[in-house]
Amino acid sequence: MRIGIIGAGQLGQMLGFAARDLGMSCTFIDPSPNPPAATCGRVIRAPFDDDDALSALAADCDIVTYEFENVPVEALERIGEQVPVYPPPDALRQAQDRLAEKQLFGSLGISLPAYRPVDSIDDLENAIEAIGLPLVLKTRRLGYDGKGQCVVRHRADIETAWRQLGESELIAEAWVDFDCEVSAIGARNAAGEIIIYPLTQNEHVDGILRVSRAPVDDEMLTRRAEKIMTALLKSLSYVGVLTLELFVVGDQLLANEFAPRVHNSGHWSIEGAIPSQFTSHLIAISNGHLEAPQLRGYAGMLNLIGDIPAAARGIPESHLHDYGKDARPGRKLGHITVIADSAAKRDRLLAEIREKTG
Ligand SMILES: Nc1ncnc2c1ncn2[C@@H]1O[C@H](COP(=O)(O)OP(=O)(O)O)[C@@H](O)[C@H]1O
Ligand SMILES: [Mg+2]
Repeated sequence: MRIGIIGAGQLGQMLGFAARDLGMSCTFIDPSPNPPAATCGRVIRAPFDDDDALSALAADCDIVTYEFENVPVEALERIGEQVPVYPPPDALRQAQDRLAEKQLFGSLGISLPAYRPVDSIDDLENAIEAIGLPLVLKTRRLGYDGKGQCVVRHRADIETAWRQLGESELIAEAWVDFDCEVSAIGARNAAGEIIIYPLTQNEHVDGILRVSRAPVDDEMLTRRAEKIMTALLKSLSYVGVLTLELFVVGDQLLANEFAPRVHNSGHWSIEGAIPSQFTSHLIAISNGHLEAPQLRGYAGMLNLIGDIPAAARGIPESHLHDYGKDARPGRKLGHITVIADSAAKRDRLLAEIREKTG
């Protein structure tokens, strides 16, 4: 089976490693000169919206998927006439616009923070009246790793926030004083089989994921997240892996956003579950049988951001993944996973690695 993957970053690389074990071959599209996934397949060097390159990819593959959300949906729909494209482009369309995403959550009865679309300073004033302060102002499109966001704590912050973000379509969202953040990763195939990974708890620093821990030992939260995930997968007639980010407030879950792709918060599943999120994605898009993930212990994952210190290499009981990227501040360059037989040991290992790697 030949898989075409739009984007050849680390997610493409990890999909490529999983594909190799399944006897699948991968071809990628990416504009950068030496992307991480170049180690696992041919890379067509072209922008993500290059119709000719996308057509060439589709002509060369049995199925096309993407590891990157900023692909023009229209381009995906065009190649969808040549070859199946999963996850469905319509799911991507909704995920690309925070307003559409929140409306979808609302239409499915999924709880979420109060929000208002904001296209003018007046709208922002009205949103403050309706939602209260603090609130988070976010661009509707193209935000990632906390970029395109600004917290408005006082009315005096309005001017600054507007200067920073006012040129884009925006959304104002109630600030959630959450207990913690979790994510749920699920997969569905075209036959309608669904599997869901155990809940993962995520810690962000400066808007970027730093540490993930799985499983979250909470039956009720797990059941609630599974219900939300199932509703979302079905309503989107989804095929592939989908990731849902949630805020935990007491025993409630509030939906934050979803990503129609494999996700950083599921990297622990490479060593921590059989099958991994990458394998499940490939099986789902090729309409294979989805196996419920079996856990191999308590998993912890630490992102290596900005540089990979020498001390990160060769740490006992840890699995280092170096994506082979050039170092740059704020850039995700790799991650380390630990698997332990108790949550306490997992947390101790993570603390030691954090200490060593700074
Ligand atoms: N309404 C909110 N209340 C509190 N924290 C928030 C809120 N929205 C976002 N955040 C924080 O910012 C992080 C990034 O925001 P998110 O909406 O997930 O955007 P992205 O991941 O696309 O950058 C979240 O994981 C969370 O830590
Ligand atoms: Mg997020």
